[in-house]
Amino acid sequence: MKVLIYGGGAREHALAWKIKQSPLLEKLYLYKPNDGFAALGEVINAENNETLAKISKEKNIDLLVVGPEDPLVAGIVDEFKKVGIPAIGADKKWAMLEGSKAYAKEFMQRNNIPTAKYEAISSKKDLYSVLEKFTIPVVLKADGLAAGKGVYIATSRIDAEMTLKEFLEGKFGEASGKVIVEEFLEGPEISLISLWDGNTLLPFIPARDYKKLNDGNQGPNTGGMGAYCPVSLTADEYKNIEEYLKKLEQALKNEQADFTGVIYSGLILTPQGIKVLEYNMRFGDPETQPLLMHLDSDLLKVFKMAVNKELDKVDLKWKKGQSFCVVVAADGYPENPKKGGAITNVEQIIQNHGVNVFFAGVKKEGNNLVASGGRVLSICQSGPCAQKYIYDALLELDFSDKVYRKDIGEVSLQKKDCTCDYE
Ligand code: AMP
Ligand code: GLY
Repeated sequence: MKVLIYGGGAREHALAWKIKQSPLLEKLYLYKPNDGFAALGEVINAENNETLAKISKEKNIDLLVVGPEDPLVAGIVDEFKKVGIPAIGADKKWAMLEGSKAYAKEFMQRNNIPTAKYEAISSKKDLYSVLEKFTIPVVLKADGLAAGKGVYIATSRIDAEMTLKEFLEGKFGEASGKVIVEEFLEGPEISLISLWDGNTLLPFIPARDYKKLNDGNQGPNTGGMGAYCPVSLTADEYKNIEEYLKKLEQALKNEQADFTGVIYSGLILTPQGIKVLEYNMRFGDPETQPLLMHLDSDLLKVFKMAVNKELDKVDLKWKKGQSFCVVVAADGYPENPKKGGAITNVEQIIQNHGVNVFFAGVKKEGNNLVASGGRVLSICQSGPCAQKYIYDALLELDFSDKVYRKDIGEVSLQKKDCTCDYE
């Protein structure tokens, strides 16, 4: 198969790395890769999604795999459909489950899927009457896409009033012209990524993402500072997740969701049961990195079966133990990351510690890669002692602006599984 991967983060690097291992792959094409993995395929240049679809047709590409949400919401899958190329990714209509939080909430309500109590608001005149219905803390969410920054947890009434006003006045442009005001929920979170082929929902193992910048879940929200999978769950929690998945599958069937792609449920396990915090219609970043390292099945074959509506015949195989990923960001991330710092010894840390490195915000300058974005790279590893190998590699990584969390993974498991004196 000739496959095109769209996107230039560590998630897309991991997708390219995994798809390259498939015997079904004839040729890999990349659109907007970063310089850290552009050499894995032939890079296509195109002005927009329409020209990209035309060029892809000329090159006889068989499958498009979309990484980020923006092109999905812009309708890239519909553009490719017009030229007869199937995609892993939602069409414009279904990408709205991520593109509008109000749309997602209505979908959940119609289908009896548990989620936080909420009100949608688009006019400042309703500010006080809406906020009155909630206790503090209260969660404010820009309706549209806001690059992962559109969620705010207000810890006092005055904070809630001021922030809601800022949102409605256009803090995130059109994306916050409408705001979801939502009940605050507490509990551990799970990223549950599934594939959907129009008939069958095929879940991956549950993953956990670390959204806060600092250890102990402190500091500002980020795109994600690390992840691991599978998450250890009790039998009851597993049962609840299975029940949730049945509900979601039924909802997608009832609404005749006729796309082939990813549906990522952001779940929270509250004392009152599972609730959905959000839907993303793409692979998570960084969750995809450990998930694909942990997957033993041929991903491209699974994608091909999804396109043929054969997910009911797929039995995903996973490695034993757990896989981990720690994100290295540039100092100053997320507000104002330092750019231009050289990253010089990646090959060496891969050799010395057996880790995988997936690149994100990097570009080539001379012979070196330098930081060009907030999240710079992901370091990943699977199996016993994986965390030790990752953190040893991180110590040795020659990138003077590096910042990363030191508490990714489950401490109890780490001690039980690891005989390498990891502390
Ligand atoms: P979202 O983009 O909707 O997943 O929100 C980003 C993060 O904000 C989530 O991963 C949660 O940590 C937090 N969050 C979102 N909604 C709520 C909620 N209703 N209660 C508590 N925390 C929330
Ligand atoms: N890691 C969270 C996300 O991809 O949205």
